Amino acid sequence: MTDYFDRVTQAAEFLRARIGDVPDVAIVLGSGLGDFADSLGEPVSLRYEDIPHWPASNVMGHAGKLVVGASRGRRILVLAGRVHFYEGHDLRTVTFATRVLWKLGIKVLILTNAAGGINTKFGQGALMVIDDHINFLGTNPLVGPNDDRFGFRFPDMSEVYSRRLRALADDSAKAIPLPIEHGVYVAVHGPSYETPAEIRAFRNWGADAVGMSTAPEAIVARHMKMEVLGISCITNMAAGVLPQPLHHDEVMQTAQRVKGQFIALLQGIVERL
Ligand code: HPA
Repeated sequence: MTDYFDRVTQAAEFLRARIGDVPDVAIVLGSGLGDFADSLGEPVSLRYEDIPHWPASNVMGHAGKLVVGASRGRRILVLAGRVHFYEGHDLRTVTFATRVLWKLGIKVLILTNAAGGINTKFGQGALMVIDDHINFLGTNPLVGPNDDRFGFRFPDMSEVYSRRLRALADDSAKAIPLPIEHGVYVAVHGPSYETPAEIRAFRNWGADAVGMSTAPEAIVARHMKMEVLGISCITNMAAGVLPQPLHHDEVMQTAQRVKGQFIALLQGIVERL
């Protein structure tokens, strides 16, 4: 039995042999936001199932491939698709890809997701820079023995989402120009959507958007001192905000509708790094 660190190392070595010169920026694309991967120049693409120990994602709207290519002249690594806690994976499996990216030498990690809007000032289709998160998963990806090769036992979380990168996102939005929101993301377990009572409670806690990913990856990335940016696409208003039920199709449709803006924002950020 190889240990977790060894499996991370094996996956990283497999990728390094195929990617060649490894970029220092990676972007994880959320539900319905995978098209950015197809905008890259001179792409080298690998399917998740071909990477040793890499967990497979089976969710609709998640392609499941790693692509290295050029965006505005800069080589970056993109993950189209991620695995989620609600699929039944433990959080170490959910964050395996994040560990591998660090082992490869990625320094800047941009996490994107589809999220429900809790803040009633947000419109459907808005893009939100994550200023901070509330981890409401009831557990933490760092539970278990700490491996000091990754980081400290009790890592600081006072600035998970880099001030520098958040400012870059603002600059990028301004230049397009594109309106951009800021807010707090609350990570829930899923897969059921929230109840209106839960959304009211989250609003009282200071949350602006809700989703089923990102926080575990961000925690693990900070454990390893990567610089993190988070961007949510507000694909729907959260439960109880509008007098209508939530549906995954709506999430996918909104992501599809704003993908042009989303891609432009990401390109602007990459350009400024
Ligand atoms: N809740 C949780 N996760 C989500 C939502 C939501 O409303 N929309 C997209 N992902």
